[in-house]
Amino acid sequence: MHQTTDATTSAVGFDHVFKAFVSQGRRGEPVLALQDVAFEARAGEFVSLVGPSGCGKSTCLNLLAGLDTPSDGTVSHRGSPVRGVNTAVGYITQDDNLLPWRSLRGNVELSLEFRGVPRRERRERAQELIDLVGLGGFEEHYPHELSGGMRKRGGIIRTLVYDSDVVLMDEPFGPLDAQTRVILQAELLKLWHRARPTVLFVTHDLVEAIALSDRILVFTANPGRVKREYTVDIPRPRDPFHIHDAPGFAELYDALWDDIRAEIGQAAR
Ligand SMILES: Nc1ncnc2c1ncn2[C@@H]1O[C@H](COP(=O)(O)OP(=O)(O)O)[C@@H](O)[C@H]1O
Ligand SMILES: [Mg+2]
Repeated sequence: MHQTTDATTSAVGFDHVFKAFVSQGRRGEPVLALQDVAFEARAGEFVSLVGPSGCGKSTCLNLLAGLDTPSDGTVSHRGSPVRGVNTAVGYITQDDNLLPWRSLRGNVELSLEFRGVPRRERRERAQELIDLVGLGGFEEHYPHELSGGMRKRGGIIRTLVYDSDVVLMDEPFGPLDAQTRVILQAELLKLWHRARPTVLFVTHDLVEAIALSDRILVFTANPGRVKREYTVDIPRPRDPFHIHDAPGFAELYDALWDDIRAEIGQAAR
């Protein structure tokens, strides 16, 4: 179903991207959010963006979704510059809520309805994902009848059901308790293995970044730039419940944390 991306074309490309915001708060002086951000993500790659608050992670996702435009440089998707709202990518944010007046099934089918997918196919595609994340039996429940973790699963499969080749996730597990987070990480990996989209995943949780990613990009404090890039060599399929025991975990965690700590120190100054 995915548009094919040949080996020479990256799924996502940031080429010398700058983004300045003109904010009222600083007497109209522009705030540089991104300064020469450059990275690529290959088709099917899971890439996490980590860095101190305000370093431009969400801005990167917004540029790729076409919700904002770079001040300089190029953001591309499947080799073409993003122009205007990019509805070809899926976008999942922390406070993406299910529509309260629709059942779980109705919520998951919504994006397929918008795209004119026939009813029967909608049903099948929604049901496959509902079952995959263990929500079978709750199809007719409304969001207020589901737990926080169930609503979050619903929000994620609602976006994944239309099989975008690129999925953006901005701290999607932020407000959940630690146990639910790990369960959802395991489910996200299952979903990702099913269709293998390219994922750009923003998190402040380094353990989560290691458990999920092929590559982790550490951003500098404001203005944001890619400071360092780590490849996560832990073999897949991975078990987020026991990721701490994986060979190389401790060294990678320490290296990431040293990098981030230096940036947080910068930001606090
Ligand atoms: N719409 C906006 N208007 C003005 N400044 C913004 C806007 N969006 C983001 N910024 C600023 O850009 C910087 C990066 O923000 P953001 O991408 O949200 O960071 P992160 O997601 O890494 O916490 C911050 O300094 C933030 O205040
Ligand atoms: Mg953010």
